[in-house]
Amino acid sequence: MKVTVVGAGAVGASCAEYIAMKNFAAEVVLVDIKEGFAEGKAMDLMQTASLNGFDTKITGTTGDYSKTAGSKVAVITSGIPRKPGMTREELIGINAGIVKDVTENLVKHSPDVIIIVVSNPMDTMAYLVHKTSGLPKNQIIGMGGALDSARFKYRLAEALECPISDVDGMVIAAHSDTGMLPLMSKATRNGVPVTEFLSDEKRAYVEEETKVGGATLTKLLGTSAWYAPGAAVSVMVQAILCDHKKMIPCSLMLDGEYGESDICLGVPAIIGANGVEKIVEISLTDAEKEKFATAAKAVREVNGDLKF
Ligand code: NAI
Repeated sequence: MKVTVVGAGAVGASCAEYIAMKNFAAEVVLVDIKEGFAEGKAMDLMQTASLNGFDTKITGTTGDYSKTAGSKVAVITSGIPRKPGMTREELIGINAGIVKDVTENLVKHSPDVIIIVVSNPMDTMAYLVHKTSGLPKNQIIGMGGALDSARFKYRLAEALECPISDVDGMVIAAHSDTGMLPLMSKATRNGVPVTEFLSDEKRAYVEEETKVGGATLTKLLGTSAWYAPGAAVSVMVQAILCDHKKMIPCSLMLDGEYGESDICLGVPAIIGANGVEKIVEISLTDAEKEKFATAAKAVREVNGDLKF
C-alpha cells in the first residue's frame, strides 16, 4: 500500500525513514514545495535500503500530487516548526493556509485517503482538515498523544529508575504546553500504579517535564524535534496498514465523547484499517475532567482564529 508524506523536512523525512525501516508499506511518496528537496531526500533514503534491508520504494516530488494518487494514508507535516520561546499556537497564521491547500490536493487524488495531521497547532489543524476535506471523521487523525505518551513514559522511567519497557502511560487532551493531560492516575510500572512508587514531588516533576517536552527539545535543538515525532507517526501508519486495532491516543473530532463536541482533542482510540475504529471512553477523576475541559476551552479559542 502507498503512503504519502507531505513535507520532506525534519519530521516528514524521519517518518518516511521509520516507515521504510519497518518494511510494511509498498511505497512512500514524499512531497515538498522546495524544488528538488523531496526528490533528494527520497534518493538519499533509497540509498540506505540495501544497507538497512528494506524493500519499501521511496520517491519524491516537488508538488506533483498525481504521484500521490491512490494513497491509503497521507501524513501532513508541511509547514513551519516553532523556534525556541514560541508556542505551537503562534504557527497558525502560516500553517493553516498550507494545511488547507495540501488537504485539497491530497483528497483530489486519493478520495478515500486517511489523513494523519502533524503540523502545528495540531489540534486546530486537525479541526481545519475536518472542516475543509469532506472526508468522514474516522479518516482524519491528529498526531500528538502518541508522541506525548512516549515522552511521558520516558520521564516515568527516569523518575522510577527503571527500563522504559516496564512503564505504561497515556497523555490525552490538547497537544500544547498547557493543555496536555498526562494520566498519572492510570500510569503503571509492571502493571502496578506508579502512584505507589512516586512521591508527590516526583509526580509533579514527571507531569511538568512531559508537558514541556517539546519546548525543552526546541530550546536544545533550536527547532522542534523529529525522531520521536517521526517514530510516533510511523506507529500510527503501521496500525492502519497492518490493521493492528491498537489503542493510541490521537486528536479526534468529538461528538459528545468526554463531554465535548465540534472540537479535535486527544483521546484514546482504536486505530486500524478504517482509521479510527472506535473512540475509547475511559473514566477520569474529577480533577482530570476539569483539566480536559480547560484544555478544550483553550483549543476552541485557537480554532476561533481559523478562516475557512
Ligand atoms: P521542517 O521545516 O523541517 O519541514 C517542513 C517542510 O514542509 C519543509 O521542507 C517545507 O519546504 C515544507 N512545506 C512548506 N509548505 C509546503 C507546502 N505547501 N507543500 C509541501 N511542503 C511544504 O519542519 P518540521 O520540523 O518537519 O515540522 C513540521 C511541522 O510539524 C511543524 O508545523 C511542527 O510544528 C510540526 N510538529 C508537530 C509535532 C506533533 O506532535 N504534532 C511534532 C513535531 C513537529
